[in-house]
Amino acid sequence: MQIISKQPNVGTTIFTVMSKLATDVGALNLAQGFPSFDCAPHLTDLVNFYMSKGHNQYAPMAGVPALREAISEKTANLYCVNYHPESEVTVVSGATEALYAAITAVVCPQDEVIIFEPAYDSYAPSVELNGGIPVYISLEPPHYQIDWNLVKEKISPKTKLIIVNTPHNPTGKLLTKSDLDQLANLVQNTNIFILSDEVYEHITFDGTPHLSVMMHPILQERAFICGSFGKTFHITGWKIGYCLAPKALSAEFRKAHQWITFSTNTPVQYALADYLKKPDFYLELPDFYQKKRDKFIDGIKDSRFSYVPAQGSFFQNLNYQAITEENDYNLAIRLTHEIGVASVPASVFYHQKNDYKILRFCFAKSDEILEKASARLSKL
Ligand SMILES: Cc1ncc(COP(=O)(O)O)c(C=O)c1O
Repeated sequence: MQIISKQPNVGTTIFTVMSKLATDVGALNLAQGFPSFDCAPHLTDLVNFYMSKGHNQYAPMAGVPALREAISEKTANLYCVNYHPESEVTVVSGATEALYAAITAVVCPQDEVIIFEPAYDSYAPSVELNGGIPVYISLEPPHYQIDWNLVKEKISPKTKLIIVNTPHNPTGKLLTKSDLDQLANLVQNTNIFILSDEVYEHITFDGTPHLSVMMHPILQERAFICGSFGKTFHITGWKIGYCLAPKALSAEFRKAHQWITFSTNTPVQYALADYLKKPDFYLELPDFYQKKRDKFIDGIKDSRFSYVPAQGSFFQNLNYQAITEENDYNLAIRLTHEIGVASVPASVFYHQKNDYKILRFCFAKSDEILEKASARLSKL
């Protein structure tokens, strides 16, 4: 049989490639974005508890009410915005699902979707699978500033959606109040929706708060906000997240969600509903990850890499222009083999593979791994 691929240009992701290579050669894996440490034992105890109490069948399609209420309460406390747990909060199987469901909910064939690059890898394929057309806007290092005049130029009558990501993977940048204002100016009185990927919402540094898109009323009324418990509670393997959106948007979102996974695993939802009652568990994250960022950049401060410290997320980009002219893909592979440190070449986050001589390192790793990795990088 002949298969006509719907995604002929999609291969194995660089994250899989680099993680496999790291395992094969025994390298320190600072490539893929997952913590090298475990979640709190209390959280696994709660999951065990709810499993042993028989919460093992399908959850309601939109999520266990207790978890939706806890998410709604956390959101109101942090951002002063109310999402009704019944109709505006949906629990999903990871933010990747939330992104796909939101895109599926609104993007029709030939609709244009503005994507800022460097971009998380699922955005463009999710748009294309829905027949949409990605319209890319490239941001340049070291500051990756959005030129809102350019965004204005790129908006057309076909623009259906603009995707933003703050704190940003891979650059660690945060959107500012001025960014949100300018975005709002561009979309008000239009039918353009916003998809805001905020999976690193609790990981910001140097006292800078996370400004959620929902905090701007003009944006909030047209936005899908995606969150991930994987990033917040060191449980990326549990694949659980959520989407916040006004009622009419959530209704469309849920239509897509119910055909993708229908519902998300039950005992974990009950456990997270309990766990969210203690805000300390997520409020201490900026401090926790800032120490890791600082340990990593302190370790390479005398190296030949240059960098702008990440403002958020758990990624630090390093520019290696002073070390070699090699392309970033080859260098990432070579460093994994030769010094045993795996990273991700930043060019993979651009559809045209722009090579700015930058590697992305994930610092959600034990102090020991960070110390070893920075010592090896410093010798280059
Ligand atoms: C920016 C961004 N969005 C979404 C996701 C996916 O989150 P989840 O694991 O909850 O699907 C990731 C994971 O790396 C990410 O970095």
